[in-house]
Amino acid sequence: MWKPPERIRHPLPEARWPSAQEAARSRLFSPLEVGRLRLAQCTWVPAMVPWRATEEGFVTEEVLAWYERLARGRPGALVVEATGIRDVPSGPLLRVGDDRFVPGLAELVAIVRRASGGETRLFLQVIDFLAIRRRPEKEKFFRRYLEVGPELLGRIGAASEAEARETLLALPDEALERLLAPRDWEAYAFGYRERVTDLHLPRIAELPRVLPGLFAAAATRAEAAGFDGVELHYAHAYTMASFLSARNSRTDGYGGPREHRVRLPLEVLAAVREAVGEDFVVGCRMLADECIEGGSGVEDAAWFASELARAGADFLSLSRGGKFEDAKRPRVGWAAYPYTGPSGYECMPTAISDARGPFGRNVSAARAVRAAVRSAGLDTPIVVAGGLATFEQAEALLADGGADVIAAARQSLADPDWWEKVRLGRGGEVRRCIYSNYCEGLDQMHKQVTCQLWDREDLDEPGVLRSKDGRRRLVAPDWTGPEGGGSA
Ligand SMILES: Cc1cc2nc3c(=O)[nH]c(=O)nc-3n(C[C@H](O)[C@H](O)[C@H](O)COP(=O)(O)O)c2cc1C
Ligand code: SF4
Repeated sequence: MWKPPERIRHPLPEARWPSAQEAARSRLFSPLEVGRLRLAQCTWVPAMVPWRATEEGFVTEEVLAWYERLARGRPGALVVEATGIRDVPSGPLLRVGDDRFVPGLAELVAIVRRASGGETRLFLQVIDFLAIRRRPEKEKFFRRYLEVGPELLGRIGAASEAEARETLLALPDEALERLLAPRDWEAYAFGYRERVTDLHLPRIAELPRVLPGLFAAAATRAEAAGFDGVELHYAHAYTMASFLSARNSRTDGYGGPREHRVRLPLEVLAAVREAVGEDFVVGCRMLADECIEGGSGVEDAAWFASELARAGADFLSLSRGGKFEDAKRPRVGWAAYPYTGPSGYECMPTAISDARGPFGRNVSAARAVRAAVRSAGLDTPIVVAGGLATFEQAEALLADGGADVIAAARQSLADPDWWEKVRLGRGGEVRRCIYSNYCEGLDQMHKQVTCQLWDREDLDEPGVLRSKDGRRRLVAPDWTGPEGGGSA
């Protein structure tokens, strides 16, 4: 993963943990009731893909164990990983593109209800993504995949297609980058990747026609499985975020000015709302800043958030960055990964950072977005994530209007019980995330995600679920605490 060149190592912020009485009086552990969003406390575990579904997208025992473990910490809300809305193969990622996925998802709902004593609201994050191919071998690319047209022939000065292919094959990358059209260079150096602006491709042109229905059908399945709501994935590198992006130059009324860029996200929201029951929560995850050159910034996000809130989104969960545009070049045979460049760093910042550091890196953008939503006269709850892992940080943000709900992904992976520990006045027992991104490295390699702070602990205990190679445990050890209390 890319790291800021300053490479400043930031120690974890000092944590003063509250007593149980102080926690009971806190904003963090108070209920939130705004519109349809009702939480027992203002705590949230945002979506994290643990790479544990079957190749066909079904819930497995490992998926159930992951969510059961997170639910034992009884967060106000738990968002289930990005789940594909189409019925197409997409590797070991959950899918909800057909009714056959409903029974597995219903089991997941049941297990979370049980483990959280019914306290945790459960949302399914629903996602659409476009095609991306692995970086090809040079020889295959130039001998087989590259289309050689008259323009390229002219640029190379070759007499025939065969001669052009051989010439290109012999050239170093610097020369290829100069000679090839930008998309051909990208297909060779990174692997071919579709964009929402590829209007010449019928499946891309028709996205505005098909996506509202696909998202709506996925939401009705989530409702049938018993979820409390869905989170529409409008963030990071995926289809809907690409519509919102300032880089979206579609000319069919769904790109260009931001009024056009927000059109499809609003149409999807309306279709989903229409398809589900009155009480079913429909929120959106979006970027407070794309953090790429020429991308949407905080001002755009503030405007989009106000539009989505006005259109009835039940919550807005703010992330940042995580884009393909500045991703690192992958190894041959691997696909580009949107968390490997500077914008990826913004999404999941590590302890080795720049002067700003990783803690609360999304806070000032989120504050601006929330202020815009409030000044539009809307009280839609704003959820913020990004290096938030102490009680004081969270409480201060809630008190000064930076956010309405505090989300912590990696801290909840490091210690799924941390919310309960803090609430019970046992914050001193929290296993604190060190923001190393070992977990994110596993995610990048599509390996089952675990945390370095516990995945080698008590491996030989009976009943411990292990990773495929047997070397790591798949869920955090149980919390018993010094008095033998805590979660069961
Ligand atoms: C292993 C892993 C998988 C993730 N998967 C998703 C995902 O499926 N959808 C999503 O919106 N964000 C995903 N994220 C981003 C997190 O939800 C969160 O925004 C980010 O980690 C920053 O929060 P944190 O500092 O509390 O970890 C993932 C993060 C990690 C570490
Ligand atoms: S591996 Fe564990 S400690 Fe490291 S960033 Fe991930 S959750 Fe935090």
